[in-house]
Amino acid sequence: MAQMTNEAAAALISEIRANRKSYEASGYGAPSRETALVTELAAHECAGLTARRARFEGEHGIERDPVVFEHGKGAFIWDVEGRAYIDMGACFAVAAYGHANDELVEALAGQASKLMHGMGDVYPTDTKILCLKKLAELAPGNLNQALMSQSGAEAVETAVKMAQMATKRHRIIAFESCYHGLSFGALSLTAHSEAFKEPFRQRICADTTYVPYANCARCAFGGKPETCGFACLHHLERLLKAPAAGCGDVAAVIAEPIQGRGGDVVPPKGWLRELREICTQNGVLLILDEIYTGFGRTGAMFACCHEDVVPDIMCLGKAMTGGFPLSAAIATPEVLKHWPLNTTEAIHTSTFLGNPMGCAVALKAMEILVRDSLPERAAQMGGYLIEALRKIAQKRPDIIFDVRGKGLMIGIEFADPDGSPRTDLALKIVDLMRDRGILLLPSGPWSQVVSLSPPLVTPKACLDAFLETFEEIVTAL
Ligand SMILES: Cc1ncc(COP(=O)(O)O)c(C=O)c1O
Repeated sequence: MAQMTNEAAAALISEIRANRKSYEASGYGAPSRETALVTELAAHECAGLTARRARFEGEHGIERDPVVFEHGKGAFIWDVEGRAYIDMGACFAVAAYGHANDELVEALAGQASKLMHGMGDVYPTDTKILCLKKLAELAPGNLNQALMSQSGAEAVETAVKMAQMATKRHRIIAFESCYHGLSFGALSLTAHSEAFKEPFRQRICADTTYVPYANCARCAFGGKPETCGFACLHHLERLLKAPAAGCGDVAAVIAEPIQGRGGDVVPPKGWLRELREICTQNGVLLILDEIYTGFGRTGAMFACCHEDVVPDIMCLGKAMTGGFPLSAAIATPEVLKHWPLNTTEAIHTSTFLGNPMGCAVALKAMEILVRDSLPERAAQMGGYLIEALRKIAQKRPDIIFDVRGKGLMIGIEFADPDGSPRTDLALKIVDLMRDRGILLLPSGPWSQVVSLSPPLVTPKACLDAFLETFEEIVTAL
C-alpha cells in the first residue's frame, strides 16, 4: 500500500512544477537559509566531502551550492527552502518504504522510549532476537544465523571473516567494477574506482583477485549473451581449477547479484546459478552482497531468489531498516560452525551491534515488505518504467547506449554508439532533473549511467512525472 495516494502525489507534482518556475525566475544564488548552512558546511565538514559541492566555485568549477534537505514524506523530500523533490534514488536505495514512514517512525519512537541502546554481544535484547528470527525466516534456504553491524561495509567485512574462518583460506575473488564499501577491509574488495584506493594503497590487503563481471553490453570477452556460454564465468572457473601464481588459497567469491554503483549491470539469466555451481564444484564459498539489491528492490525479496540461488553468506544493509544504520551478514550453520565459541571475548563485535532501535525498525520494515507485497510492486513498477524508458531510448540511439534493470533498480547508460561513455550527458541530466524537482544519481565506472532506485512505495504519478521530464530533457539534448 503506497503511503501517499496517487492523487495526493499528483497534486504535489503540479505544485512542484509551478513553484520551479518561480525559483528559476528568482535565481538560485539569492541569500537564503540554505546559503547560510552551506557556508557552515564548507567551514566545518572535511573538505574531501564539501569541496566537491560547496563554496569552491572558483577553485573547482562548481556552479551551484548543494541542496540541503530538511524533511521527507513517502517518495518526496523537501529542502530547507521548502522546495519539494521526487526522490528517484530513495537516498542511496535506503528509503524503500518511503521517507518518514509512519509505521517505521512509530516503531523507532516506541523502542527509543523503552531502550535506546543495549549490550550487543554481552546481553541481547528481545528486539534483537526477534529481528534475527525474522531475518532468518525471510532469507533464502538455510541462511539462518547472522552477525549484525551498522554499515554495509562492516557487513561485507564480517562476511569475509566468516569465509576465512570456515575455509582457513584467505583469498577472495571479486568482480571488476564491484562496490562493497570503503572502510579498509571492504576497500580491499571494491574495484569501482581506483581513486578510492590510491591514497591508501599500502594499507589495503592484496589478497583479492578480480575477474570480469557479466557486463554484456561491454563484454570483456567480446561475446554475445545468447551464445557466449558465460565466458566470464569460465574464466573464473579456470582460475579456480589452475590458480596462477599468487592466486591460490581462495576462500570465497563475492558478487553483487546486480552491480549497483558499477552501473546497474544486470547479468543474463542463469549467470548467478552457474556461479553458484562453479563455487560448489570447486569448494569455495559464495558470498552475495545484497546490500543494494536486498529487501524487494529487484522485484524479489532478494535478487538471488530470481534464480533460486542460495549463497553461503549474504550481506544486507540499506533497506533492511529503510533509514536506521543497521546491517548484517547472514550465513548457513555449516559456515558458522567454524566460528569459535565466545568463551572470553567475542572476536568480532562492536559497541552498537544489534542496536535495539535499529532492530525494532528492521522488524517493522520486514513486516511491511511482506504484508504490502512490496517486491511484487517493485517488479510491476519497474517493468513499467523500463518499458517506457526503452521507448525513449529508441528515439535517441545516438546517446542512449543501454536501458537495463530489474524491479526498481534501473540504469540508463549514456554513450556514443561506439560505446564511448558520455559522462557529460549523464551528469548534465542529473543536474537538469534536480532543477526540475527530481533527484537522481549517476553510477557506472565513468559516471555515465543515470541510476534509478526509487522507494518501493513510489506512487505511479511520480514515475510518470519522472518519465515526462526525462523525455523532455533527453529530447532537447
Ligand atoms: C552492494 C553494496 N555493498 C556495500 C555497500 C557499502 O555500504 P555502506 O555505504 O553502508 O558501507 C554498498 C553501498 O552503496 C553497496 O551498494
